[in-house]
Amino acid sequence: MTKKTENNLNLDDLDNHSQSHTNELYEHWDLIDGKKVTSKQVVEIINPDGFSVIGTVPALSTLEINEAYAAARRAQKNWEAVTLLKRIEILKKWRNLIAEHETELATIMMKEIAKGYKEALNEVRRTVEYIDYTFEEAKRLQPSAFTGEEFGISNKLGIFERVAKGVGLAISPFNYPLNLAISKIMPALVMGNTLVFKPATAGSLVGTKLGELALSAQLPAGIFNVVTGRGREIGDILVKNQEINFISFTGSVDVGINLLETAITKDVVLELGGKDPALVLDDLQLDKYAKQIVAGAYGYSGQRCTAIKRVLTTDPIADRLIPHLIKEIDKLAVGSPKENAAITPVIDQKAANYVLKLMDDAVADGAKVLVGGQHRANLIWPTLVDHVTPKMALAWEEPFGPVLPIIRLKNRDEMIAVANASKFGLQASVFSQEITPALIVAKELEVGTVNINGKSQRGPDSFPFLGVKDSGFGVQGIRETLLSVTRVKGLVINY
Ligand code: NAP
Ligand code: G3H
Repeated sequence: MTKKTENNLNLDDLDNHSQSHTNELYEHWDLIDGKKVTSKQVVEIINPDGFSVIGTVPALSTLEINEAYAAARRAQKNWEAVTLLKRIEILKKWRNLIAEHETELATIMMKEIAKGYKEALNEVRRTVEYIDYTFEEAKRLQPSAFTGEEFGISNKLGIFERVAKGVGLAISPFNYPLNLAISKIMPALVMGNTLVFKPATAGSLVGTKLGELALSAQLPAGIFNVVTGRGREIGDILVKNQEINFISFTGSVDVGINLLETAITKDVVLELGGKDPALVLDDLQLDKYAKQIVAGAYGYSGQRCTAIKRVLTTDPIADRLIPHLIKEIDKLAVGSPKENAAITPVIDQKAANYVLKLMDDAVADGAKVLVGGQHRANLIWPTLVDHVTPKMALAWEEPFGPVLPIIRLKNRDEMIAVANASKFGLQASVFSQEITPALIVAKELEVGTVNINGKSQRGPDSFPFLGVKDSGFGVQGIRETLLSVTRVKGLVINY
C-alpha cells in the first residue's frame, strides 16, 4: 500500500529517514469484506508541517459504505461463534504486525498529524500494550451464576454471560489516530462484534494502514472494514445505516451531539471535548506543580482532550506560580515533528486561527500575554496568558492549541464555582500538599476524574475514562469498553 516501507529504523536514523521520504506519496486504499477498495474520488491528506500533499485515501460513495455494513453483518454470526481463545489467536497476528510496523506507523503519523516522531512511536507502543491487556481482560469477563435461593426459590439456575452486540461503527479523532482507533476496534472484535471503522481524515493514512495490516494478518473477511471520506460529507450515511447496533465516537462536542441526534441507534459512547482546570490550592511545591501543569497544558501542542486548559488560583499563589511556569515553558522546543520538537504545528490553519482569535480577544479585553503569543502559519509558540477573566471566551472555550490561561480568583469556593460553570466535565487537577483540602475540593468538582497533584490524563489505559456534561456519555477504559460492546444474555435452567 505505501510505496516504500520504513521498518526496522532506529531513532538515531530519524533525520535521514524523515528527510528521505519528504516527497513520497502514500496512496492508500480502504478495506471492505476482506478486499482492497480504491476510488476515483480521493481525499488529499495534507502534512500540517508545511502543507504539502502527502497522500490520498478513497472518498467512498454511499454504495460502498453500505457494502461495508452488509459485509460486517454477513460476517458477524460466524465470528461470534469462534471461541474467545481462537478469536484472540487470530487477532494476535494483527497485533504482531502492528508491533513490527511501529516505525512505519510512527512515520506516517508524524507526517500526517505533525506529532513528534518519538511521541508517535510511544503511541504505537502504548497501543500494542493496550491490545495485550484487552486480550487478557476479555478472558476475565466470566459469566455470573444465580440460584434464586435468596428469594426462596429452588430448582432454578440462572447463568448470565456477556455476548456481542453485533455490528458496530467506530469513529476516531485526529489526535491519537492509532491509539483511539484501536481502543474502539480491538475490544469490539475480541468480543465477537464486527465493525465499520471511519478514521478522522487527518489520521486516515494511519487508519488505512491498519486495514492493510488486517488484510496481511488474514482476518476473516468482513469482520473489520475501513471506510474513508470527509465526515461532513459521509457522516449521515455512516450513522444512519440500519445494520448498526452500537457506535463508539471520539471527537468534538458539535459532531458528537449531532451524531446522537441523527444516528440510527441510541447505543452510543461519546468521548468529547474538555476544558480541564488545574486548581492550585497552595504554594508549597510550585516547582512540581509547574512541571505537571506545563506537561499537561502543552503536550502535543495542547491537542489533547485531557490537556490542562485553564489554571484557577488566587492572586498571591498566581504571582508565585508564574515564574515556575515560565521556567518550564522556556524548556519547550518549538519546531518540526521531525526534530521531535515539543511544540509543533497544530492540525491546520483553521484550528490555528481559532486559537489565535481566542488569545487576541482576551488581550483586547485586558488579558496579558506573559510568554509566547507569536506564530508562524499554524505553528503557535507556547503561550501563557495571565489575568484572563470569566468574561472572556478563553476562559470557557476549548482551544486545542498551546495556550494556557490563568484565571485569578478570590478563594477556593470561587475556584470550584468557575471550574463547575464550564459546559465541559472531563477531568480536573487539584494541586495541594495537604490531602484534606484536596479531597474536599475534589468532591465538589463536576468532572469524570480528579487528579490530585498530577496532570489530567486518560491513562493508564486500564483506568475507566469518562466525561460528564458536554464532555461525553458512557465510559471507556479497557474493561469498561469490553462491557460497552457486549450485552448480558441470560440462560435460566428449571429443574
Ligand atoms: P471532529 O472534527 O469532531 O472529528 C472526529 C471524527 O468525526 C472524525 O473522524 C471526523 O471525520 C468525524 N466526523 C466529522 N463530521 C462528522 C459527521 N457529521 N458525522 C459523523 N462523523 C463526523 O474532532 P477532531 O478535530 O478529530 O478531534 C478534536 C476534538 O476531539 C476535540 O474537541 C477533542 O477534545 C476531542 N477529543 C476528545 C477525546 C476524548 O476522549 N474525550 C479524545 C480525543 C479528542 P473527518 O476528519 O473526516 O471530518
Ligand atoms: O485527546 C484525548 C485523549 O483521550 C487523551 O489521552 O490523556 O493519554 O493524552 P491522554
